[in-house]
Amino acid sequence: MNELKLSRRRFIGTTTGAALALPLARHLQASPATTSISLPLDSPIAIASGNGLEAVELAVSQMLEGNDPLDAAIAGVGLVEDDPDDISVGYGGLPNEDGEVELDAAVMHGPSHKAGAVASLRGYRHPAQIAKRVMVQTDHVLLVGEGAKRFAKAQGFQEENLLTEKSREIWLYWKQTHSKVDDWIPPPPETVADDVRSLVERITGTIHLGAINRTGDLSCTTTTSGLFFKIPGRVGDSPIIGAGLYVDNEVGSCGSTGRGEANLQNLCSFLGVELMRQGLAPVDAGLEVLRRVVSHTKEPRLLAEEGVPNFGLKFYLLNKKGEYAGVSMRGPSTFAVADSKGARLEDCACLFEG
Ligand code: GLY
Repeated sequence: MNELKLSRRRFIGTTTGAALALPLARHLQASPATTSISLPLDSPIAIASGNGLEAVELAVSQMLEGNDPLDAAIAGVGLVEDDPDDISVGYGGLPNEDGEVELDAAVMHGPSHKAGAVASLRGYRHPAQIAKRVMVQTDHVLLVGEGAKRFAKAQGFQEENLLTEKSREIWLYWKQTHSKVDDWIPPPPETVADDVRSLVERITGTIHLGAINRTGDLSCTTTTSGLFFKIPGRVGDSPIIGAGLYVDNEVGSCGSTGRGEANLQNLCSFLGVELMRQGLAPVDAGLEVLRRVVSHTKEPRLLAEEGVPNFGLKFYLLNKKGEYAGVSMRGPSTFAVADSKGARLEDCACLFEG
């Protein structure tokens, strides 16, 4: 991971003190903050991680045609699941340490408050679609590994090899170079393409997409190949409801990309929605969630200088009023949005610069 020059002075320290002071439990049974919402909205809205520009455009066009926001969201991320050049999602996603592509995804439907998810799924490029089948056609929320695979087959999805030549090359280069105490010999540097060399950094990639239609129904999905070169069987936050995504149809939705372990330890997406329920604007709720992660990050190996987390983490929040935000642990960073003004990238609010 790149060395980061981060300074406490750059910390956006204007804590929403009120937000910090608000006891969450007091609000868990509170009425949703819907009193000042004026529906219908001017336009459906979709927000996503920065790799989702075409995805948000498609999601909004589907909602304009009257499709359910969850189906629109799944259609949007399907473009990225299909894209072999996005090495963090679906077909062409980077594999685990054994060279096998293992995908995680979840969907959550606001109007029914139902969810479905698959984890460690091998051989199927559209895990978000399979997650929806789990939601609709089973009494369960999460299927994993071999069971998820058998379920996908039973549902008629087409099994295929998801490892593209590009992803295999990146994985092989990682295998050849990541340790000095094995028998792999690194290739001569001049034979290695620049993108192969640079992509070997162990980062996470993912797409999250949140959607709201004109009548204020919300849904969201998150889909990923997870941490590059992960230990086989590692499951991140993306298929875990409340961690990698969450929606409450009376309040809003929140989802994430970045270090999944931080979300699993803090249930960040649930927290983001609950903070919006307390009345925080999406941007303030998202920054507050990031501050919570900072305060809970204690292991030196996860900290850069001055105690700032050394990992990336982003949240995408959308409330019932159609207000939205992308927030990032560090910046600059962008997220995708589409509404009546079209599809575009907007700047995330960032907790740290650098
Ligand atoms: N946030 C994606 C992952 O950690 O797998």
